[in-house]
Amino acid sequence: MYEQVSHSLLNQILEEIKPEISKRNLLRFYTRLGANFYAIHSLFTQLYGERKDFLEQMVRLVEVLATRYIERSADLEALDIEREHDHNWFLAQNWVAMALYADGFAGDLQGLQHRCAYLQELGINMLHIMPMMKCPEGASDGGYAVCDFLDIDARYGTLSDLQTLTAHLRKRKMLVALDVVVNHTSDQHEWAVKAKQGDKQYQDYYYTFPDRDIPDMFEETMPEVFPENAPGNFTFDTSMNRWVMTVFNNYQWDLDYSNPAVFIEMADIILFWANMGADIVRLDAVAFLWKKIGTTCQNEREAHLILQLMKDCCQVTAPGVLFIAEAIVAPVEISKYFGEDAVIAKECEIAYNASFMALLWDAVATKNTKLLSQGIKSIPNKLDRATWLNYIRCHDDIGLGFDDADIINVGYEPYPHRKFLIDYYTGVYEGSPARGQPFARNDKTGDARISGSLASLVGLEYALESNDEELIEQSIKLILLLHSIIMSFGGIPLLYYGDEIGTVNDCSFMQDENKANDNRWLNRPRIDWQKADLHKQHGSVEQKLFDSLQRMIAVRKSVPVFADFNNRELIDTDNEHLFIFIRNHFNQQYEPVLVVCNFDNRPQMLNLSELGNRGLFELGQLRDLATGESPALFKDQLVIPPYRYYWLTVQP
Ligand code: GLC
Repeated sequence: MYEQVSHSLLNQILEEIKPEISKRNLLRFYTRLGANFYAIHSLFTQLYGERKDFLEQMVRLVEVLATRYIERSADLEALDIEREHDHNWFLAQNWVAMALYADGFAGDLQGLQHRCAYLQELGINMLHIMPMMKCPEGASDGGYAVCDFLDIDARYGTLSDLQTLTAHLRKRKMLVALDVVVNHTSDQHEWAVKAKQGDKQYQDYYYTFPDRDIPDMFEETMPEVFPENAPGNFTFDTSMNRWVMTVFNNYQWDLDYSNPAVFIEMADIILFWANMGADIVRLDAVAFLWKKIGTTCQNEREAHLILQLMKDCCQVTAPGVLFIAEAIVAPVEISKYFGEDAVIAKECEIAYNASFMALLWDAVATKNTKLLSQGIKSIPNKLDRATWLNYIRCHDDIGLGFDDADIINVGYEPYPHRKFLIDYYTGVYEGSPARGQPFARNDKTGDARISGSLASLVGLEYALESNDEELIEQSIKLILLLHSIIMSFGGIPLLYYGDEIGTVNDCSFMQDENKANDNRWLNRPRIDWQKADLHKQHGSVEQKLFDSLQRMIAVRKSVPVFADFNNRELIDTDNEHLFIFIRNHFNQQYEPVLVVCNFDNRPQMLNLSELGNRGLFELGQLRDLATGESPALFKDQLVIPPYRYYWLTVQP
């Protein structure tokens, strides 16, 4: 949109900009800046329009965007241009991601490069490397307490190792996602250190207060994220003699985005990592970016404005780079991080589908899919040009964040139902083979979340220990069933390292005083490569899982209707053990695929006539794409064995 006020401001900025920028020929930069400037200016005005130094701050922002653009390599710029032409590229079915810690997976970045062949063999082509920016020795919340945003922690290697790795991956058409912890810094970050020394400029980067007046007002409505380890949302800093907002751990200081200097620093940092070769930047804890007294300080409107502004800025300098929103909040809130009232993503192109993940775990424990189906209906439709990250496990706990209304709607009661799930996954419930642990139990609210690896939560750890062959087979089937859903549902499947070989809980964290009080470390394993190599040994658990997943990934990549174009329809039937949906292609060019999943430990039947006039499945011979075989039918009833999934098409 052309708008005179923005345009004349842009001209004024260009006159004031540093000569080392203004003298250069930056044609592409200026066309993008022109195209995005109206939005950047409006958002900057909404957030910071009242400030006397508004123009100065805007000049500084444009200088940052230009400086990072000048620094961007020719390789990366070529990718930017390619992706501008093919802007739906990330919705295709060929992407399959894995999240991993470089040290846990392979020692360090060089080790990770060495292990790329293993990932490629499995079919992974998108790597989310968990945070590796410089952190203090000791507790660092798994890398989420950063003390230098522009350097790699020596534990993982060097910046040059990372650049070598990203170039290596680029050649193999593999993408890299890197974390940027936008909401807070470590209390040992240079900004915090200066704040502690009394430097007012840096105290203004954080929320600090001389007494408890304002903190107490905040506390009235702010929930606690880590009620056991870090109760309350403020920490008293003795050197500064002030209270500082610390929503997560007491050593993680929340940044104050009402200060434009903070926004500009973070834009600079994000673009720095984009230039290091990140194709995707995972923005951590985005729901928390704006704090307001009288609210939960989550999902505030300004948090969305900040993300929109960040996206517009990134579009000017590194338009090929995507954002992932890590917002583990209520189902109706999550999809807002794509940006509302738009067709293309205005904030983050990708968001964690945390609601879907939790619902899958509900279906496993109950062997019933009614809450899963109901919960999915409550997740708002995504925008056309945005997509979900569908996952089963990650490095964090599982929060049972489904909607109470949905729980009631399907006939459960919220409190006892959540209690059942916690008891089930922590093995307290009689007959449960799960080996999880409760995380962040809150005695005030009765809430808890769940830690534990996928294999341990589905019963594989218990089955292996008790040498129960039947339970081992059942756990393997469950692991595959869950993966079959994230691979076919629409969105990018995000596997978690170690799950491809059934890695059980890692209890070694108990020996480390900096980790012992945080049982999320159960599911942040160090891969034992001798054990991992068993995936080559026929008949081993590792081989059964690895080979099946490898095949599943290869099939996913070959099925065009698995691309994410809002081309999914859920199918309700009378059988509550089954989860069924159909994937169509938006232009009918490709055969639809019917996905049928049985969450029960007994065989189930599906009347094909229940599929209504989608009944093309009655016509021909059905074929399961996953195995290449025809499934068993009794008259027009499809038989689905326990914990089995089908990806069905009609045999031509
Ligand atoms: C995100 C991370 C989590 C971390 C938190 C605070 O939720 O996934 O591991 O503890 O942010 O940084």
